Amino acid sequence: MRLRNVEPGDVEAYVRMRCDPAMMAELGGPLPAEGMADKVRLDVERTAADDWWVRMIVPDGAGPEVVAGTVTLWPHEEDGERITEIGWMVLPEFQGRGLAKRAVGEVLEAAGADGRWGRVHAFPGATNGASNALCRSLGFELLGDREVVFAGRVLRTNHWVIEP
Ligand SMILES: CC(C)(COP(=O)(O)OP(=O)(O)OC[C@H]1O[C@@H](n2cnc3c(N)ncnc32)[C@H](O)[C@@H]1OP(=O)(O)O)[C@@H](O)C(=O)NCCC(=O)NCCS
Repeated sequence: MRLRNVEPGDVEAYVRMRCDPAMMAELGGPLPAEGMADKVRLDVERTAADDWWVRMIVPDGAGPEVVAGTVTLWPHEEDGERITEIGWMVLPEFQGRGLAKRAVGEVLEAAGADGRWGRVHAFPGATNGASNALCRSLGFELLGDREVVFAGRVLRTNHWVIEP
């Protein structure tokens, strides 16, 4: 697989990832499709400015328009403290092939080389078997459980952290 930056043409991929009940089962349920064009526009701007890293996963042998999933690295405030968070999604037909693990591993390596992100936090849903396995397998440390707000909804999550 390879990673490329999010582009304006990725609205359909966002809708498939964020507006689908199965994809969003561990993230508080599907989001409204109307918000996705604005979300893509914002993510393209943030990534172009190098403030956020929104990378799209392109499977081996496919053109750049084929999206298997996404990895996002972004800074934000959590309990008054500035932290770096990472999140990921892989579409159902591409799951179970190690794509999320490779893509998240690459983004963490790039974050370590870049040097300005500090420790990277992840908050997968407490019952999200694949994402918790991914954190464990990439060497994140489990700090405990935590309620977090994602897209305006409160989720029960596990709090993982890694020094990339
Ligand atoms: C979570 C998700 C990204 C995993 O993507 P994937 O490409 O299938 O994951 P990988 O193939 O790289 O596997 C990652 C690890 O999870 C494990 N795993 C995969 N599916 C699993 C499952 N259903 N239950 C438990 N572990 C699982 C793999 O064995 C692997 O662990 P290992 O390295 O110890 O072998 C994907 O299922 C997804 O997008 N789900 C919906 C959205 C979501 O939950 N996003 C995460 C928000 S934090």
